[in-house]
Amino acid sequence: MKFNCGIIGLGRIGCGFDDIPNKKSINSHAGAYNANSKANLVSLCDIDINKLKKYGKKYNISSLYSNFQEMFKNEQLDCVSICTLADSHLQIVKEAAKYNIKGIFLEKPISVSLKDAAEIIKICNQNKIKLQIDHQRRFSPFYNKIKNIINSDKFGKLQYCSIYYGSGIANTGSHVFDLINYFFGGIKWVEGIQSKNISNNPTDPNIDGKFECKNGLICSIQSFDFRKFSLLEFDIIGSKARIRLNLTDSRAEFFEISEKPGLAYKKLIKKSDIMKNKDDDVVLGLENLFYSIQNKTELLSTGSDGFTSLESIIAMRQSANKNGKRVNLPIKSNNFKISSR
Ligand SMILES: NC(=O)c1ccc[n+]([C@@H]2O[C@H](COP(=O)([O-])OP(=O)(O)OC[C@H]3O[C@@H](n4cnc5c(N)ncnc54)[C@H](O)[C@@H]3O)[C@@H](O)[C@H]2O)c1
Repeated sequence: MKFNCGIIGLGRIGCGFDDIPNKKSINSHAGAYNANSKANLVSLCDIDINKLKKYGKKYNISSLYSNFQEMFKNEQLDCVSICTLADSHLQIVKEAAKYNIKGIFLEKPISVSLKDAAEIIKICNQNKIKLQIDHQRRFSPFYNKIKNIINSDKFGKLQYCSIYYGSGIANTGSHVFDLINYFFGGIKWVEGIQSKNISNNPTDPNIDGKFECKNGLICSIQSFDFRKFSLLEFDIIGSKARIRLNLTDSRAEFFEISEKPGLAYKKLIKKSDIMKNKDDDVVLGLENLFYSIQNKTELLSTGSDGFTSLESIIAMRQSANKNGKRVNLPIKSNNFKISSR
């Protein structure tokens, strides 16, 4: 079976990340569709005419739209990628649902409020649309391997996790909290304060703080100024081992207790580097969406996962608004709005 597909939003994640000449990896939705033999990428939509022309030419597509309503009306799409900012996601999902769409590959964060996120999920459920949220690390065997290690006996009892990030609690925090939920099964409470290391986006602040996961693990989260350099890391410490996980490059250092006799103290020594395989996450996410439509299986990154990540972001914002007061999850207000790039 072939899927007729379209992309709405031809910015960085829609297309632009694959503009770099001679790059081997695929990092955009357009690149993923182009590389998938089950996909017919038939139409593109952006309000920016220059991007429409540029990517229409690059991917040899003549059905170009500056209006997504028109695109849905004229094209019989099976799948659509929504690669616009979060504040337009609900409106586009509503429109897509009128046209027998089977799958939506939706960029993170799922939406700007829990109310809107819940509506997106409801619309997709009612219309039997498979909704894949692009929290890409869930698609990667590398992160699945890390999850298995940190939850295994050889890691011992989880003691602590510290997180370094930058570029906004919603923009980057969306990935951070999704991975925390994936690894540790959800969050009980958060405490956050406005960071002194400001975000590159004034409407999406950096927030520092700590939180407790449902499995009892305490985590700290500390931001840095993304304009100076990019830093996205988890340092996860168990009673028998430690993993330093670099989320930007998808690689990890694994440490275990040294067995050497005669040491005054037990030490953690580096045992191995764990590297990502060659597959590109966005490519795997699209493949999983097609598979899930054809075989009626659960997706790797569901709307509910997107909702949970957004809830943690909003909890951090609410706590920071109250100078670090603890906010328990699930949170009460569904109307709090975030802004994200
Ligand atoms: N999953 C990831 O790793 C990842 C990486 C980057 C960005 N993102 C997410 O993807 C989304 C887009 O980010 P970006 O950096 O590509 O943004 P961007 O600004 O580069 O691109 C957004 C595009 O959407 C277009 N657009 C806006 N409104 C539109 C409308 N009504 N109809 C059609 N097109 C419209 C804009 O003209 C622009 O070209 C954000 O939510 C961001 O958080 C995710």
